[in-house]
Amino acid sequence: MEPVVTIRGLSKTYSRGETTVTALHEVDLEIRKGEFCAFVGPSGCGKSTLLSLVAGLDQPTAGEIVIDGRSTKMLSSQAWTTMRRETIGIVFQAFHLVHGLTAEENIALPLMLRGEQGRDISARVDELLHRVGMSHRRHHRPGELSGGEQQRVAIARALVHQPRLLLADEPTGNVDSHQGAEIMALIQGLAQSGGQTVLLVTHSAQAALAADYTWSMCDGRLVSRTTPTTQTGLSS
Ligand SMILES: Nc1ncnc2c1ncn2[C@@H]1O[C@H](COP(=O)(O)OP(=O)(O)O)[C@@H](O)[C@H]1O
Ligand SMILES: [Mg+2]
Repeated sequence: MEPVVTIRGLSKTYSRGETTVTALHEVDLEIRKGEFCAFVGPSGCGKSTLLSLVAGLDQPTAGEIVIDGRSTKMLSSQAWTTMRRETIGIVFQAFHLVHGLTAEENIALPLMLRGEQGRDISARVDELLHRVGMSHRRHHRPGELSGGEQQRVAIARALVHQPRLLLADEPTGNVDSHQGAEIMALIQGLAQSGGQTVLLVTHSAQAALAADYTWSMCDGRLVSRTTPTTQTGLSS
């Protein structure tokens, strides 16, 4: 399988006055098509920074990210926006739904931004509402939904344009453990059936079990790669 994401020598430093923080330090990584990869590690180890660089929401200090064989080094912010609309879906811890819009309108947004037309949009939105179990809440606004329900809508919105790459930063961080397990099952099931490649950031060892393998991070570096089998000792 060809790599969907190749990362070479990726570093990110933040400067605040006199102090410099190295959030990522020369990360090398290859993620293949259809893989579900989790990143775990203590708060501040660079997980969100890594994901936001892959999403083009922030620029690296050094190194390069190749997505679908295409270097992103020279992409303008306009080109990154196009890349996200076509190739990337993102789920955040804080949901980031548009508060004035209903569940179905939120899910439709990525398609409308791509200029798709009414009938195609509503068929696709219906399908996603169904798949995340939210058809009965389609006319509700985010403020009228529980955290877990909001995250279901956010997952539907992230996947509605069938992105090749799904990025999820602590998707279970704002929901209780029961809802968190449901959210993870949803991401796992939808990504697998759609052949999507998933990069999940989490500090939950339980959530990471949904992944094919897990990279542990520390101080801006990838430290070790484990699979659920070696984590749980099922092989012995
Ligand atoms: N915009 C920023 N400005 C300055 N420092 C930042 C910024 N974003 C992140 N950092 C720092 O970079 C490091 C990594 O942050 P982050 O990637 O958010 O970690 P994680 O998601 O693993 O908790 C932390 O030390 C954090 O304080
Ligand atoms: Mg984070």
